[in-house]
Amino acid sequence: MAATILDGNKISAQIRAEVASEVKTMADAGIRPGLAVVLVGHDPASEIYVRGKVKSCEEVGIYSEKHTPAETISTEELLELVTGLNLRDDIDGILVQLPLPPQVDSKKILMAVDPAKDVDGFHPINVGMLSTQLPGLVPCTPSGVIEILKRSNISISGQEAVVVGRSDIVGKPVAMLLINGNATVTICHSKTHDLPSVCRRADILIAAIGRAGMITRDYVKAGATVIDVGQNKVTDRSEFERLFAGNAKREEAFNAKGFTLVGDVHPEVAQVAGAITPVPGGVGPLTIAMLMSNTVRAARLRRGSGARLSLAC
Ligand code: GUN
Repeated sequence: MAATILDGNKISAQIRAEVASEVKTMADAGIRPGLAVVLVGHDPASEIYVRGKVKSCEEVGIYSEKHTPAETISTEELLELVTGLNLRDDIDGILVQLPLPPQVDSKKILMAVDPAKDVDGFHPINVGMLSTQLPGLVPCTPSGVIEILKRSNISISGQEAVVVGRSDIVGKPVAMLLINGNATVTICHSKTHDLPSVCRRADILIAAIGRAGMITRDYVKAGATVIDVGQNKVTDRSEFERLFAGNAKREEAFNAKGFTLVGDVHPEVAQVAGAITPVPGGVGPLTIAMLMSNTVRAARLRRGSGARLSLAC
């Protein structure tokens, strides 16, 4: 039986509608959440992501502003920009789009963001908050994965979860969230022995490796839930054929555009899995929804009833 398709667009729209209604309530109290997005240089993928983030702010009623320093900016200059945003009372969330150019010390920049405004959840304070189950800000894509599972009534507690990929942005935090949800969690990476057999243990398999269609059907137990976090651009025809042979609709789009977007999971997995997220239209839309949600949460915590996130220094 073909897998249930977990519709990320639909779940994202639900969350954004909830956020919009919360923004309205806050407006009655005279508060408008504000997000500052910093985009250094002109990376095409980053430009698309940032455009989506700013547009989504407009739709839910969050104030947003975009800062676009030149590709040549130094670490010190970028630190100055972040410090200025930390001090602004009308800015609740700060997002520095990654990757940053090589001359910039990314870790230093992420450490400089006020943890109370760190809507990406990348600051070590928020990483620590997540691992100790304290109320910090949680990275957007991982919390989006959990929302997909919860809102699709897929239970986490007691399940075997396997996460492929150990990045700071997705793999590690999603594993932590699954542990906090009482799953039994295995994290795999490039040095894992016999990856397919480890993955076949999974009731919930999370693919976050960044390799087009790497997870084929032999990695997946029949009936498992498969969450595909990958977003890979395929331009090579033989690679396209490996993934989409016989898919006329995809081929037409591939021929027209010269590329197609594919996740880390091979399309054939839909014949084995119980439920699966598509690419595009799966996890991707959740990242922006959770950014909106985090910005409102940061505004509430920072400007609200005294429950502050930042450590009193
Ligand atoms: N680049 C790719 N994904 C992300 C993300 O979630 N946040 C930021 N800041 N940059 C990214």
